[in-house]
Amino acid sequence: MSATPRIAVCPGSFDPMTMGHVDIIERAARLFDRVVVAVLVNAEKAPLFSFDERVAIIREVFAGQPNVEVETFQGLLVDYARQKQASVIIRGLRAVSDFEYEFQMALMNRHLAPPIETIFMMPAEQYTYISSRLIREVFSLGGQIDGLVPPVVEARLMARRKARPLPNARTT
Ligand code: PNS
Repeated sequence: MSATPRIAVCPGSFDPMTMGHVDIIERAARLFDRVVVAVLVNAEKAPLFSFDERVAIIREVFAGQPNVEVETFQGLLVDYARQKQASVIIRGLRAVSDFEYEFQMALMNRHLAPPIETIFMMPAEQYTYISSRLIREVFSLGGQIDGLVPPVVEARLMARRKARPLPNARTT
């Protein structure tokens, strides 16, 4: 380990965490001494999972990875990163369509906190089409999400589906 630990923050909504997120965080964990997965606490009206559930899920997924920790944050990301003494913000880039939004955020964050660098990482190709938004949509319409989210997310969602079947679910 270097004298000053290299700390990166991986921020996001993670509602729910996908295999794309897992892939990026694992890549970051190989490059940094500590990776802080930071779940944004916002006022979203109908989240799939509460913040506590999201934190519990992510902790379970990375239970075997001692340099990955999970917290919630609110307010400006750069303030949180400073507070964690992180020098890097990690964001995943899946396709060109992500670029504009990510570019704007990275430059705004640099404007607010010049010493903090944003580093973009690409997930494995098989995860490039997955987003939390699509997972929520596919799940809410009864589609299969296995292999696209960590098993703990799938298990929680399947338990929910069992408890509250879709109104148009086939019964035979
Ligand atoms: O997973 P998401 O929803 O794409 O993550 C977006 C996130 C959490 C990285 C972004 O909304 C954020 O950083 N919010 C904190 C508020 C903030 O700092 N806004 C200015 C960013 S330029």
